[in-house]
Amino acid sequence: MKKRYFGWLLAVLLAGLTLSQQGPFQQRVNQAIQSGGSRFAEAMKQDPDQALCSIHRDRLPPELAGAFLERQRALIKYPANGKLMGDWKQGEALFTDPRKGNCYACHTGDPKEAGAGLLGPGLVGYGQRGISEPVVKYTYDKIYNAWATMPCSLMYRAGVHGILTPEESAHVTAFLLEPASPVNARR
Ligand code: HEC
Repeated sequence: MKKRYFGWLLAVLLAGLTLSQQGPFQQRVNQAIQSGGSRFAEAMKQDPDQALCSIHRDRLPPELAGAFLERQRALIKYPANGKLMGDWKQGEALFTDPRKGNCYACHTGDPKEAGAGLLGPGLVGYGQRGISEPVVKYTYDKIYNAWATMPCSLMYRAGVHGILTPEESAHVTAFLLEPASPVNARR
C-alpha cells in the first residue's frame, strides 16, 4: 500500500517538474518546431552544442560564446557557384513549405500571408537593409545556421540539419533580400 502512494507521489512530482519547464512560451516554440514534422524534432536532439544550450537555456555564458560561434560558423557550407543570392521565386516556395523552410511558423514575410508566426522578428520589408555583401552573408548564415550568429537561438539550423541545401538557402536568402520579392513589396 505504502509503495503505491510513493509511486503516485513521484509521478506527481515529475509531472510538476516537467510542467514547470514547459512555460507557455516553450510550448509555442515546441509546437512551431513540430509543425515541420518529426524530422525537425529529431534534428534538434542530435547536436553536441545542443547539450550546452539545454544546460544554459538561451543564456550561454560569455566565456563559452566565442568558441561556440566558431564551431557553428565552421558548419556552414556555401553553394558551389559561390552565389549566396539565388532565385527568390524558388526561395518563396521553400520559405512557405512546412516540410522545408517552415519559416512562417515563426516569422512574417509576405504581407499577404495570413497566420504567420510571431516568435521571430518580423521579416516584412527585410530587404530595406540593402544587398551589400555583409548583409547577404549575414542573411545566408542566419538561414543556414542560426547559431553561427546567435548562440542557442530558438531558430532551427536549416542547413546544418540538412533541411535546406546550400543552394536552397541561397534561394531563401534572395526571397528576403531581392527588391522584386513580395517580402519587399512597396505598400
Ligand atoms: C522556431 C522559430 C523560427 C523558425 C521556424 C524560423 N526562425 Fe528565423 N528567427 C527566429 C528567432 C527567434 C530569431 C531571432 C534570434 C536570431 O537572430 O537567431 C530569428 C531570426 C531570423 C533572422 C534575422 C532577422 C534580423 O532582423 O536580423 C532571419 C533573416 C530569419 N530568422 C529568417 C528565417 C527563415 C528564412 C526561416 C525559414 C528557413 C526562419 N527564420 C525560421 C525564429 C525562427
